[in-house]
Amino acid sequence: MQLIRTADYAAMCAACAQRVLAQIARKPASVLGLATGGTPQGVYRLLVAAYRRGEADFSQVTSVNLDEYVGLGPADAQSYRAYMQQHLFAHVNIPPARTFLPDGLEQDAAKACADYDALLASIGRVDLQLLGIGHNGHIAFNEPAEAFSTGTHQVRLSARTIAANRRFFAPGEQVPTRAYTMGVAQIMRARRIVLIASGADKRQVLQQMMRGPVTPRMPASVLQLHPDVTVIADAAALADAAALVDEGGGA
Ligand code: PGA
Repeated sequence: MQLIRTADYAAMCAACAQRVLAQIARKPASVLGLATGGTPQGVYRLLVAAYRRGEADFSQVTSVNLDEYVGLGPADAQSYRAYMQQHLFAHVNIPPARTFLPDGLEQDAAKACADYDALLASIGRVDLQLLGIGHNGHIAFNEPAEAFSTGTHQVRLSARTIAANRRFFAPGEQVPTRAYTMGVAQIMRARRIVLIASGADKRQVLQQMMRGPVTPRMPASVLQLHPDVTVIADAAALADAAALVDEGGGA
């Protein structure tokens, strides 16, 4: 794992966006694995800004997202499809027909998951996978478990994840309790992975992910076994500054 420490959230986003832009410049027909949540929002803002400056071309890109809430569709503002529209897809020239997420409106979980697995197989390997990390070490919605998951599957979200996601919902609004998510083994198939983390509340989990044992009880720890992972974290998220590469004005 390569570790990059940045001074703050803005520099973390810049370092991440720069890698995404380099990826699509190097290979215009890249498959990007995309993530939702609070952390990537600044990355998407920078990708949109680069596109508007004429410095990025998404016309040949294919995107696959990690997960989607069960029961929410594109018309629902809280769906991850809507998130991606709002933060990226609507503002760049990625062909809408080549942007993929699991179908949250498919109530038949076996079908929803099989369909996404088939889609991922037909697209081939993800060139660059963007990841966040949950406070309990989840990647995508792979919560701590007895074993690492393989393909797309339905998950019940942990109480902690539901609580963390509540901030995106209006008071009184129901936070979904189930999601369809790519499996850990699928995420591990990506050629390159960039994991971003910001803020002191991610400090403990980052430490466990990078230095602790590889265990499905800390799903992100599996990334220790991947040959090309870059962790970009801001100073607040890194307790241990030793042996880190500073970038983007890192202190
Ligand atoms: P966050 O979520 O970026 O909103 O903190 C991270 C995650 O759950 O993967």
